[in-house]
Amino acid sequence: MIYFNKKTLEYHLSNGKISYIFRVMEATGIMEQLYFGAAIDNYDSYDFLIERESKPGNNQIEGSQITNLDDIKQEMPVYGTTDFRQPAVEIVYPSGDRISHFAYDRHVISQGKAPIKGLPSTFGKAEDVEVLSIFLKDRYSDLEIELRYAMYQAFPVITRQNVIRNAGEQSHQLETFLSLNLDLPNENYDWLHLHGAWAREAQLSRDHLAVGIQQIGSTRGASSHMHNPFISLCPPETTETQGKAYSFSLIYSGNFLAQVQLDTYDIARVQLGINPFQFSWELAQNGSFTTPEAVMVYSQEGLNGMSQTYHEFYQAHLINQKWVHQTRPVLINNWEATYFDFDEEKILNIAKKAKDLGIDLFVLDDGWFGTRDTDNGSLGNWAPDLRKLPNGISGLATKIVDLGLKFGLWFEPEMVSVDTPLFAEHPDWRIGNPDKHISHGRNQFVLDFSRPEVVENIFEQIDKVLSQAPISYIKWDMNRYISEGYSTALAAKNQGELCHRYILGVYDLYEKILEKYPDLLIESCAGGGGRFDPALLYYAPQAWASDDTDAVERLKIQYGTSMVYPLSAIGSHVSEVPNHQVGRLTPLKTRANVAMLGTFGYELDITNFSDEESAEIRQQIATFKGYQDLIHSGLFYRLKSPFEGNECAWMVVAKDQTEALVGWYQVLAKPNPAYQRIRLAGLNPDKNYRIESISEERKGKDLMSIGLLLGENFLGRPENEQGRPMPGDFNSRLFYLSEKI
Ligand code: GLA
Repeated sequence: MIYFNKKTLEYHLSNGKISYIFRVMEATGIMEQLYFGAAIDNYDSYDFLIERESKPGNNQIEGSQITNLDDIKQEMPVYGTTDFRQPAVEIVYPSGDRISHFAYDRHVISQGKAPIKGLPSTFGKAEDVEVLSIFLKDRYSDLEIELRYAMYQAFPVITRQNVIRNAGEQSHQLETFLSLNLDLPNENYDWLHLHGAWAREAQLSRDHLAVGIQQIGSTRGASSHMHNPFISLCPPETTETQGKAYSFSLIYSGNFLAQVQLDTYDIARVQLGINPFQFSWELAQNGSFTTPEAVMVYSQEGLNGMSQTYHEFYQAHLINQKWVHQTRPVLINNWEATYFDFDEEKILNIAKKAKDLGIDLFVLDDGWFGTRDTDNGSLGNWAPDLRKLPNGISGLATKIVDLGLKFGLWFEPEMVSVDTPLFAEHPDWRIGNPDKHISHGRNQFVLDFSRPEVVENIFEQIDKVLSQAPISYIKWDMNRYISEGYSTALAAKNQGELCHRYILGVYDLYEKILEKYPDLLIESCAGGGGRFDPALLYYAPQAWASDDTDAVERLKIQYGTSMVYPLSAIGSHVSEVPNHQVGRLTPLKTRANVAMLGTFGYELDITNFSDEESAEIRQQIATFKGYQDLIHSGLFYRLKSPFEGNECAWMVVAKDQTEALVGWYQVLAKPNPAYQRIRLAGLNPDKNYRIESISEERKGKDLMSIGLLLGENFLGRPENEQGRPMPGDFNSRLFYLSEKI
C-alpha cells in the first residue's frame, strides 16, 4: 500500500480506495503535499501535481523565484521557511528564536500497528495496516520529527501521528505540535462540525469556508460539550448520499484544536491536534513527545459514506474489541427516578420491577458514597454511605445480582469536594494556584491527575469497591471543566504541560482499572456529552450522549453524534415525562423509538407503572432485543435531518442486506397534511422485503426509489371507526424489514 519512488523521492499511499501523495523537495528537503483523495494510479513521477509559478515574495533559495513556501502545500510546516501560515510545530530554541527547518532524512515501513500504552490509538494486524514513518531532522538542533502514516487496507482512511525526539543535550520548549497538517486545494468548500452546550450537544453546523482562519476547539481540559474533535470539508453540492467529503477526527479527550486556514492562494490548510493555547512542553535531553492520532477519511458517497467509514473503522480498529461483538445489556439507571434521595429498599424495588420487565442491568447513579445528599460534597470519598445503604455496595450489589440482574455503579473519579478526608489531607491535589482564585463547578474541584500519586489514590479507592462487590459496569462521569489550570507539582516552566498530563492521567486510570477488571463495561459521561470523543471509546465502548433525555431533543443530538460515532456507542435512555430538561410530554412509544437507535435503557421510576405501561415497556425491551444485533452491527443511514424540518428518519441495514430497521419521527402534528413517504437506502435492489408492521412486501429498489408510503398521519378526529387514535405531536414509527425468500 505504500510506494516509494527512490528516484523522485515521492511517496504514494494507496489502498485502491484513496491515494495520498507527497514528496521530498529538492534542495530544502521539506516535505511537499501533492494529493489526497480518490485513488489514482501509480506513476513513475507525480511532477504533474507540482504547482509552481514565480511570484513576488520571500524565497527560500537565493536566485530562485519559485521557492516561496507561502503557497506550497506541506506536510509539517514551520515558521522560518517563508511560510507565514499557521505552523504545525513551533519550538522555542535555547537562543529564544522559533526558527526551524525540518528536512527529510529517511523512512521506515512496517506492517501491523500495536496500541500505544497510555495513549488511545488505532490498532491492526499485519494484514490490515501498513505504517510509514518519515524521519525529518532539524537543521538547527538535534531534534528529529517522525511523521507516522497508517494506511488501512479495508477503509478509505489514513491516520496521522507525529513524534518529536530530542537527541541533543539542550532543552527545547515545544509550543505547538499538531497531529495533522493537510494543505488541500480549495474546492469552494463548506466546513462542517458539531457544536453545542450542556444538554444540547452535537448540533450540526455547515457553513461556507471563508478566507481566513475558521477554528473550533476546546480550552476546557476536556473535548467539551461545545465542540467535538471533528471537522469535515465538502463542496457545496455534497449531500448525505453523494459527493466528496474530506473528514478529520482526533483521538483525544483534552484541549484540542481543529482549524482550517483558507489562504489567499486558495489553499485550505487543515490542522488538528492538541490546542496550542495553554500548551507548552519541555523537550529535555532524550525527551520525546507523541501527539494524539488523527484520522482522515475521504468519502465519495457523501456524509453518510463518511459516517459509515468512521463507524466501521472505529469498531474494527479503535473500540475495545471485547465489546464490539458482545451484546450490550439493557440497563436501568436510577438518576432521574430518585436523584440523591434513595435507600436500599427504594433501589431494590426499582431493581425487582426492572427484572420483571426484562431489563439486564441495574445502575446505581450518584449519591451512594460519603454523605452525598446533594451535589455539594463527598466526591473523592468513595466509601459507601451506610445511612442509605446499611449493607454497603457489596450487600446491595449481591442482592441485585441474586435477583438475576447485573449491577453497575457511578463514579466521578477526577473530582474532589472540600468536605472529604482526601481534600483535608491533600489540599494541593486540587488543580489551581492556591494563591489565586479557584472557581468551583457544581460545588466541586478537579483533582490533579497529572500527578501519578493522585491517580493511584483514586485507583485504590475504586479498586476497593470493585473488589468487594459483583460489579459489571461503571458509569465514569466528569461534571466540570478545568478553569484555572495550575499544578503545585509542576515547575514554573512546565505549567503548560498540565492539561495534557491530566488527560494522560485519566487514560492511565482507565488502563489500571481495565487491566485488573478486563470484563468491566465502562460507559463514559461528562455531564452528558462533554467528553464524547474517539479516545474514550478506546476504553469505554459507550458514552452517555447528553443529559437531555427528551425524545425530540435527542433526535438532533443522536443524529449529530452519528456523524462520527456508531450507534453502539451512543448512550440513550427512555426517561420520565414531563421531561426533566425541557418539560415536554412525549409518548412512551416515541421515547423508546428514539432510544432504541443507541445503546438503549431506561431512566425513570418504573415502580408505580400501571399494568398497561409495564406491558408496553416489556414489549419495547423484547422488540429492542430482537433488533439489537442489527442496530449495533448494521450500516446506519440518515434519511431525513431533524435540523432541516419537522421530521427525522434513519435506518440500519444488516451488512448482508437481509434485514433493516427504519425509524421515522414527526415533531409536531399538522392538520390535513400532505402525504408523506420516506425513501429508504442501502437495501439490495433486487431483494423482496417484508415490512412487518404494515404486513406488506416490496422490492428493495422500489423502497429506495418510490419509498415507503407513510399514511396513518391524520384523521381529523380523535379516532377512527376501528379505534385507531389520531397520532398527535411527537409521533413516531419503526418499520422492520426482512428479506422474503
Ligand atoms: C451528570 C450525569 C448524569 C448524572 C449526574 C449525577 O450530570 O450526566 O447522568 O449521572 O451527573 O450527578
